[in-house]
Amino acid sequence: MRTEQPKTVYLKDYQAPDYLIDETHLSFELHEDRTLVQARLAMRRNPAGGAGLPPLVLDGQQLELLAVTLDGRELGVHEYQLDDSHLSLQPERAEFVVETRVCIHPESNTALEGLYKSGKMFCTQCEAEGFRKITYYLDRPDVMSRFTTTLSAEQQRYPVLLSNGNPVASGNTDNGRHWATWEDPFRKPAYLFALVAGDLWCVEDEFTTLSGRRVTLRIYVEPENIDKCQHAMDSLKRAMRWDEETYGREYDLDIFMIVAVNDFNMGAMENKGLNIFNSSAVLAKAETATDAAHQRVEAIVAHEYFHNWSGNRVTCRDWFQLSLKEGFTVFRDAGFSADMNSATVKRIEDVAYLRTHQFAEDAGPMAHSVRPDSYMEISNFYTLTVYEKGSEVVGMLRTLLGAEGFRRGSDLYFERHDGQAVTCDDFVKAMEDANGVDLTQFKRWYAQAGTPCLEVAERYDAAAGTCTLTFRQSCPPTPGQAHKEPFVIPVALALLDGQGRELPLRLAGEAEAAGSGRVLAVTAAEQAFTFVDLPERPLPSLLRDFSAPVKLVYPYSRDQLMFLMQHDSDGFNRWEAGQQLAVQVLQELVGQQQRGESMVLDRRLLAALKSVLENEGLDPAMVAEMLSLPGEAYLIEISAVADVEAIHAAREFARREIAGALYEPLWQHYRSNREVSRQSPYVASAEHFARRALQNIALSYLMLSGKPEVLAACQDQYQATDNMTERLAALAVLVNSPFEAEKAKALAMFADYFQDDPLVMDQWFGVQAGCPLPGGLERVQALMEHPAFTLKNPNKVRALIGAFANQNHVNFHRADGLGYRFLADQVIMLNALNPQIAARQLAPLTRWRKYDAARQVLMRADLERILACGELSSDVYEVVSKSLA
Ligand code: PHE
Ligand code: ZN
Repeated sequence: MRTEQPKTVYLKDYQAPDYLIDETHLSFELHEDRTLVQARLAMRRNPAGGAGLPPLVLDGQQLELLAVTLDGRELGVHEYQLDDSHLSLQPERAEFVVETRVCIHPESNTALEGLYKSGKMFCTQCEAEGFRKITYYLDRPDVMSRFTTTLSAEQQRYPVLLSNGNPVASGNTDNGRHWATWEDPFRKPAYLFALVAGDLWCVEDEFTTLSGRRVTLRIYVEPENIDKCQHAMDSLKRAMRWDEETYGREYDLDIFMIVAVNDFNMGAMENKGLNIFNSSAVLAKAETATDAAHQRVEAIVAHEYFHNWSGNRVTCRDWFQLSLKEGFTVFRDAGFSADMNSATVKRIEDVAYLRTHQFAEDAGPMAHSVRPDSYMEISNFYTLTVYEKGSEVVGMLRTLLGAEGFRRGSDLYFERHDGQAVTCDDFVKAMEDANGVDLTQFKRWYAQAGTPCLEVAERYDAAAGTCTLTFRQSCPPTPGQAHKEPFVIPVALALLDGQGRELPLRLAGEAEAAGSGRVLAVTAAEQAFTFVDLPERPLPSLLRDFSAPVKLVYPYSRDQLMFLMQHDSDGFNRWEAGQQLAVQVLQELVGQQQRGESMVLDRRLLAALKSVLENEGLDPAMVAEMLSLPGEAYLIEISAVADVEAIHAAREFARREIAGALYEPLWQHYRSNREVSRQSPYVASAEHFARRALQNIALSYLMLSGKPEVLAACQDQYQATDNMTERLAALAVLVNSPFEAEKAKALAMFADYFQDDPLVMDQWFGVQAGCPLPGGLERVQALMEHPAFTLKNPNKVRALIGAFANQNHVNFHRADGLGYRFLADQVIMLNALNPQIAARQLAPLTRWRKYDAARQVLMRADLERILACGELSSDVYEVVSKSLA
């Protein structure tokens, strides 16, 4: 815990390390009540670091130092300095060996950073600065070293001993203990170090790389989960092949391991050769994991695997460059998922997520650029901006350079920087050099925070046959950045004729039309483009496939949106037109309520959705996406002042109207898909994901009718199924329905049957936490007492507290402020247990500026209460203090 105010670290203060570590020899003696760590570091003066021999300052936290030697000589207490986060000593030569012995306590580490116990196993999490909780070290990513690790533990309890690289030796000692030594031939920063010890089983497979090298693949899990690994293994092999084919990247060690752990702060971690995963991101089988969970496993397995090149072989110079590896790797995993499933649906999901959550972050008190220029606690910067917006920035580079130019750039980047710790500038430089372009202005995407707004005006000149599009971009101020310079905004577009066909595009001054779809680079604050040879007035389809992370403003009429929904040849924009239409209609309903009028739904929304349901050529996954109204969180994000109750009521009203008007076609879609589900065993493939998505959204509408036939179908789906996708969807609609007895019965059956499967119980908590019916807070408070709940497990916290505060808007924002008080109480408790999780759970309170004056007062009061509770971690302090500033 913090005793003084945490210090702010600035990118501009970056300095190369004074010393380097060529070799790192670690030895761990794991015991139930303590662990002894010995580190032998072969060090030398950094030739790039200037003259003389400055003091050596090693990072270290919560370590009990037992001994320190320099070149084999044990130092006396006057020969080194210790404070609560450093060990300093004075080297006498340019090359030397430092050896330390420390004692640490993984058995009581609830922060899940450094070495800790998850259930019965030992594991580590070192990114970003966890290695310093294991031993004294230069814990910074630009210090890359060759690691040799020996671990020893009691043989019975910990038969499996793993670390990075290749196993080189192992043996038993007389006292019931055994040991193993692992050697990692690749230099790496300490944040990629890992070890695992436990009673684990594994599934094993093999992969032959393009150049013919055989790689052993292993997924280690606790014995009860051994039947839930196949999907992750299949995903891994697909990812390995895809990275060879798409980026020319081969795997480089003889073995690749994944370990599933139940207690993990994030999704997973790309430690070299030994990825450690939150069990929720590995384990999946039909009976226990939904389609969404299967897709998440596929994406995260690929993401961590892809880091082997984008992150490990080429790593970050400092943590300000985090998006160098994360933005790029998210972009890579999105490309993989798009190729494995429906590319359009993947894009829709990603954009909906970005616009709901990242745009909100960009508009809030923690807004920061993709490459931040300062932080107090780096753990707080594993954000939607660094990950998802960072991925969009890489995607814009690809859009501007074209697929081939982008690949030339990534090849050059990997080749030029293999084995190095580099910056976002180096990445862009490789793109520039490989393509002979100047991306100076483009780099503002890395430096400027906030979501740009792009307003487009259209002017058609019938006499001249020209259409002029005028783009005006602006970007609101964000903390520390009052003024923004114009961005380079790639706008993919087409002009459609009255039948929805794409017109040839010729800009004034061009000799001939260059196809019908193109990308304009908008670079000025205001910029006009005139298209010629247009005998009729075209309808523009703008920002196709969401070609830039901006808020597009174009005055489409509702009829034009309906036209685009049906005819746009860009699948993303067809969906987008439907969303915009729904937003307009829902905002109208919100306005009606606020004026005390009764709500009247624009029938055009019903007509549009009806034609979607009747369009037999559409991918069922697209139908499901188009039937989904914009979420409450998104409607809140786009409101100046969010009226949570009116938004909820408007959306529910629209859903009931849709259910009533489209009951027949919804029933038909439901029944035919349910029939397929009934007759064929579960398959985890895009085609079946799509079908079940449509089946389940249809059910959620139908249930609003309250008809007995629907209730019967829902109960049947709940019981007579071989998969969690159908079961959980049926449970969710029951929970959100007024059928109290049926819901209680289903919930009880579920908990009884799945009580021993923590990941399934998380879903059970989540469904109830998200239920918008009155009394949500009380239900959540009661669930906190359930034997399967614990604040010590991050997945449980996210499933119950996170789902309540982030998805259950009407209950969380109840007018008396008790929702806020509840969340603040949990954050205060989590602060002492697990600061990273505490800080993340805080996010909904930091958005106080979005709400009415009364709620602002309540939300701020709870933030103040957290601030006043003393002993705050740097994680929580940073978020709270910046939110109140
Ligand atoms: N680097 C991990 C990833 O792939 C995320 C992570 C960060 C995990 C910090 C644990 C701790 O995205
Ligand atoms: Zn990552």
